[in-house]
Amino acid sequence: MTINTGAPVVVGVDGSAAALDAVRVAAREAGLRSRPLRVVHAFAWPLVAAPLGPAPFTPPTAGLRGQAEEYVAEAVAEAGKIAPEVPVSGVVVDGAPTSVLLDEARAAALVVLGQRGLGGFAGLLVGSVTVQVSARAGCPVLVVRGEARADGPVVVGVDGSDLSAEAVGFAFEEAARRSAPLVAVHAWLYPAPLAPGDLVPLVYDLAELDAEEHRVLAESLAGWAQRYPEVPVRRRLVRGSPAQALVEESRTAQLVVVGAHGRGALGGLLLGSVSHTVLHHAHSPLAVVRHRPAPTR
Ligand SMILES: Nc1ncnc2c1ncn2[C@@H]1O[C@H](COP(=O)(O)OP(=O)(O)OP(=O)(O)O)[C@@H](O)[C@H]1O
Ligand SMILES: [Mg+2]
Repeated sequence: MTINTGAPVVVGVDGSAAALDAVRVAAREAGLRSRPLRVVHAFAWPLVAAPLGPAPFTPPTAGLRGQAEEYVAEAVAEAGKIAPEVPVSGVVVDGAPTSVLLDEARAAALVVLGQRGLGGFAGLLVGSVTVQVSARAGCPVLVVRGEARADGPVVVGVDGSDLSAEAVGFAFEEAARRSAPLVAVHAWLYPAPLAPGDLVPLVYDLAELDAEEHRVLAESLAGWAQRYPEVPVRRRLVRGSPAQALVEESRTAQLVVVGAHGRGALGGLLLGSVSHTVLHHAHSPLAVVRHRPAPTR
């Protein structure tokens, strides 16, 4: 295997404790994937008048720009402690955090973000940068929240849509990489249309539907299970809310994986409602998969 080449794992930092948590997870991820780590701080020029550079007779690190450099340096040092074998670079990029990180995502294998940042307010569950980047990035986004544990299964939410198929592929790859079992959760409440224009019966037989949902789950997993025979898979069919089932599973998971959208993809929505809820309430790190990750084997 080539060591530490190819698209980097990118981690966004803003000087917050949550971003440093993200750095520790990102360093481990880069090590697991044999990829370099790239620490990025987006530096937006403030709207209020403030000294941008150091005032005369102060050290060169004074001022906002210097502070930005310090955020990056601190993160690079932290990553070095966690994964000394991983090459780490750090940059300050001018621009708004969301657009800088979306740009970075184009050339990244994975973008890692903290659940919160320096801004926000006390009750905020997930910051706006994280919500927007996880919904729109061109590569999978790992949101570091809850307990970052090295044991427990990888959990994936399956709804039978194309996007959840991509999430399933990513989840198998992650489970194989971590030598972890995979739990595939498919929850359903009522018959749901699989495609626009599908007709849903007014009267239905629950046992028949159960069998149908079993089939949806089995079909979503079939090809991937063949490709990753070493990954033990547990199927969980739940009659209830998918978001609630995934949040429950996240209590013991090392990673939860969802697609950015599912069956109900509404053009205007940043994230599907299940992904949105899990992003706000998961007890473990969460990967949001929007585009098919490049196959690694
Ligand atoms: N300027 C930035 N440069 C790079 N990454 C950033 C920047 N700002 C935020 N991030 C990343 O996004 C994560 C979440 O921060 P975010 O800004 O979304 O939350 P917040 O500051 O609590 O709330 P908000 O900014 O929405 O008021 C951070 O942990 C970090 O990983
Ligand atoms: Mg912020």
